[in-house]
Amino acid sequence: MNQRLMPQSFANDTEKLIELILELKKQRNAVILVHNYQRPEMYRIADYIGDSLGLSVKAAETKADIILFCGVRFMAETAKVLSPEKTVLLPTLDAGCSLADMATVEKLEEVKRKYPDAAVASYVNTSADIKAMSDICCTSANAVEIVNSLPNKRVIFLPDKNLGRYVQQHTDKEIILWDGYCFVHDKLNAEILMDFKQRYPDAKVIAHPECKDELLKISDHVCGTGGMAKFAKHDNSKNFIVVTECGMAEKLREDVPEKNFLSFCNVCPYMKSTTLPLVARSLVHNTHEITLPEGIIANARKAIDRMLKFSKNAA
Ligand code: 13P
Ligand code: SF4
Repeated sequence: MNQRLMPQSFANDTEKLIELILELKKQRNAVILVHNYQRPEMYRIADYIGDSLGLSVKAAETKADIILFCGVRFMAETAKVLSPEKTVLLPTLDAGCSLADMATVEKLEEVKRKYPDAAVASYVNTSADIKAMSDICCTSANAVEIVNSLPNKRVIFLPDKNLGRYVQQHTDKEIILWDGYCFVHDKLNAEILMDFKQRYPDAKVIAHPECKDELLKISDHVCGTGGMAKFAKHDNSKNFIVVTECGMAEKLREDVPEKNFLSFCNVCPYMKSTTLPLVARSLVHNTHEITLPEGIIANARKAIDRMLKFSKNAA
């Protein structure tokens, strides 16, 4: 929220909380990783702000004792898999992800039985259990390249059917789609976007690949949250319509202040459930510490490491 619109007492509380969190962070040798969709005040306590891929890379590299995740549970689990010796904290258990919940172990066992020759590529938006059953992980930033890198002709892609369909359009492989979706993106309506486009004809549309195909077809550029600032910076347009979670346009206004961003979006309640008071509590009381069985960590690690190795070689 704009500081000028905030009642004075709230603004003071925010400043005090930020100061307290920065102090606690130092005392506990903690690193705070923040996803792009978080509330804007969370950016101010961050050591790193980014997309799922960037956050995984940071979680693997950090020397801190504690990794506090301002994001959702699957991201914190990924951090735990990559740094099992560290304390990984998720300030609230409300920070789930309904897309990740759409992939279950039982269902994946069934699909694997049906397609024994297929590789399993799981989107990072899955639980550690699912990653442990996968050959490789991917994010919105590298899904097409990861799938194309696999030796198998057939690939089970889960759990997002919209991203899976997008990948299918950019590969010769046969993609076995999963019936999952992110309601934040899937509910965005192509007809209404068309009205927006007509009202702002000089604006370019940047959309997240979790959106429906009919919406992606009328977009100028499709990419994950990490690619949006890069595109806006280098494109010669001045105005952009940002089609994803509402927090992204705020982040882009900070990152690319010379351009204009109009938001065509829905709010993700999971991403917005992390707040400054919950982060302060988490650093004092270790709420909520992520723990995972050793076997799951070992197997999930193989799938995540393959993705990170691929991304490093591709960079
Ligand atoms: P990104 O990897 O593009 O940041 O996406 C994460 C996410 O949850 C999208 O809904
Ligand atoms: Fe999950 Fe969608 Fe929220 Fe991302 S935006 S965390 S995929 S519900």
